[in-house]
Parts: sequence; C-alpha cells; structure tokens
Amino acid sequence: MLEDKRILLIIGGGIAAYKTLELIRLLRKQGAWVTPVLTRAGQEFVTPLSVAALAGEKAFTDLFDLTDEAEMGHIQLSRSADLVVVAPATADLMAKMVGGQADDLASTLLLATDTPVLIAPAMNVRMWQHPATQRNIAQLKSDGVSFIGPNEGDMACGEYGPGRMGEPAEIAGAITGALAEGPLTGRRILVTSGPTHEPIDPVRYIANRSSGAQGTAIARALNMLGAEVVFVTGPAEEPRPEGAHVVEVQTAAEMMIAVEQVLPVDAAVFAAAVADWRVESASDSKIKKQAGKIPALSFSENPDILASVSQMAEGRPDLVVGFAAETDDVLANASAKRMRKGCDWIVANDVSPETGIMGGRENTVVVISEDGADHWPRMGKDEVALHLAERIALALG
Ligand code: CTP
Repeated sequence: MLEDKRILLIIGGGIAAYKTLELIRLLRKQGAWVTPVLTRAGQEFVTPLSVAALAGEKAFTDLFDLTDEAEMGHIQLSRSADLVVVAPATADLMAKMVGGQADDLASTLLLATDTPVLIAPAMNVRMWQHPATQRNIAQLKSDGVSFIGPNEGDMACGEYGPGRMGEPAEIAGAITGALAEGPLTGRRILVTSGPTHEPIDPVRYIANRSSGAQGTAIARALNMLGAEVVFVTGPAEEPRPEGAHVVEVQTAAEMMIAVEQVLPVDAAVFAAAVADWRVESASDSKIKKQAGKIPALSFSENPDILASVSQMAEGRPDLVVGFAAETDDVLANASAKRMRKGCDWIVANDVSPETGIMGGRENTVVVISEDGADHWPRMGKDEVALHLAERIALALG
C-alpha cells in the first residue's frame, strides 16, 4: 500500500529507538523507500549499520559531512520524501522543533522540510505530562505536525503512564493513513468496539460475546480511506487496528468518558457491544463462597453512549452510526432503535447463535437510514467494513 512512497525516518535518542528496526522492516514490506537519519543520541540506541542494512539505504548522521552533501544536500534530503517521520520523538527533539533550532542534521531537516511530518513521541510519563512538553505538543499540533501515540503502559524506566512509543505496526498504519489520499483524508472519525466488562468483584465480571472483529475492521477501512481514526475499545481479543489512535477501556462508564474526551469528530461509529447494566455495588474484595448462600446481584443502568452523542445539543458529529444486535424482528427492532437513540444510521444484524455472527468472521447486515433499509448480502466483516467506510465517505461528502 506504500508502493514507492519515500519516507525520511528520523530516529531520536530513546530506548524505543529499537522499535524503529521493526518499523523499517514493515515499511519496506509494504513497498516504501526508507531513508534513515539518526541523531547523535539515536546512535547510542541503534547503530547506523543495522538501520542502513534494514532500509537498504545509507543512514545519514552528520550535518557537516562533505561526502553526504556532495551526494545529496540536506535541503534536498529534507524535501525528497513524501513524509517525514520522527520515531522516537524525544522531549528534546520536540522542543527543538518548536523552537526552530537547527544545530544538527535531524533538527535542520525538520526545519527545512516542506513535506508533512508525523511524530511518534516517547518519553518518561512525567516528562510527557510536564507543562513545557504539553505546550510544545499544542504548538506542534497547531504547526500541522501529526502525532501517533504515545500509548499508556509500563515504561522502561519502571513507571507507568502515557509516554510509551506506539508499536511499529501502529506507526506503520499511521504512515499509511497519512499518505493515503482517500475520500476521508482530513476527517476525524471515532469508532467504539468490543465488549465491555462490568466487574462483580476484582476477579469476576459480566461480559458478552463480542470479539471486536467488526469494529476493528471498520477502523482499518476508515483509515485506509484516509481518515484519522480514534478507536475506543473494550477488552477484545482482536489485534488493534494499526494506524488508529487506540484508547483501551474496561467498562461502559469508562467508554463514555473516553468518548467524551475524543469529541469533536466528523463522524462516529458505535460498534461496541456495551453492557446495558453494571453491578450496582461491585465488591472491592473477592466475594467468598458461603455454604448455601447465593449472592444476589442488583444492577444499575449504564449510560447509553450512542444515544447521548446522537442527542448532543452542540458539537454533534455530522454522522452518527449505531449498531443493533438483535435476535428477533431485526428490522422492526432496529428501526425503532434508530428513532429512540436519535442516530442517523443503524447497522442491524441478527446475532442469534445459529447465524454465527457474534464472534464469527462474517456478517449479514441491514443499513437503516431515513432513506429506508438497505439489505446487504452476507459477506466477510472486512468487506462490510469497506462498504460502510465508502458509504460514510459519500455521506460526509
Ligand atoms: N450502545 C451504547 N451504549 C450503551 C448501549 C448500547 O453506545 N450503553 C450502542 C451500541 O454501541 C450500539 C447501539 O447502542 O451501537 C445498540 O446497541 P444494542 O445492544 O443493540 O442495543 P441496546 O441499546 O442495548 O438495546 P437492547 O438491549 O434493548 O436491544
């Protein structure tokens, strides 16, 4: 998909630099040309030799290397790419970009380039949260720099939080998205996916059979058509869609908060199988078995995410797509659901066990809008996703 695209990859000095080796491999596999540039600190983590060997191209390191300048001047180098990618983008490199400094090859290229720039930040969580870095992030975003990650998780320094560089597959996906010139280029779209887990106690929970396959396929398809996708997912088995910004949640309440933080978006697709109820007073410690005593669970209602976004008074996405998982009277129930929730379209499917849809690889859907019901033949979930993404692109115009 990246056939003959040229990527200038600037490798900064952070432990995550090792992930760029895999990134180069993934990009090459997709047919891209990768020109690697290492900062001085970057060379402490990966060597120009290994990077050049994987890229199949010379790795550039110095600003004042006369041989390099004779082969290709730094201005030309900065402009020969379709996309400049910085991975890992350290706090220092980001600060340099904001300040317009040009004291080494990497920062000079970033100042001289006239091609789009995508950065994959990686740093300690405190450094990420520091007001100076947050100011820099805001400035870079307003300068038109795109971001992929960072993710939340365990860090090499032993702390936990946002700051981990995105995985190579995620960065590769973001690169594909950044270079994809599709009908959804410039559009920001939210996709919810997967089941939610509602805790009973620390070891038990209530869930459903959703695999997250359909939501993931939709996120991928939207990304392929050029959209920037934010993917809010419950705990699903399905590998996360490369290229999407992934937000992981467990419960419906957490999904609601995550969705509110993602808005505004141009369109929102609610493919998640959200639990309607949560256990009212989930126990903080494991409920012990007591002879003859059966615990009675009482429930309270979860927020309806689709309905609340559909009915927003201000800032409602231009297009809101809900799903309807039904076992009886699919069409009637789904049409009523569209009206009740206030969304624009409902993608209805029959999830009776005999259809094998929930947890399976195929889907038979009916897309219901104000124009009526469109019955699609049974097809793979990837195909359903692609058709839906194309229809969304048409609707957004
Ligand atoms: N949904 C949601 N928040 C909820 C429940 C559902 O956002 N708390 C969304 C789902 O993501 C889906 C749509 O609403 O897009 C319909 O979900 P479904 O489970 O089919 O419907 P329910 O509202 O749960 O209604 P019912 O259980 O009566 O079928």
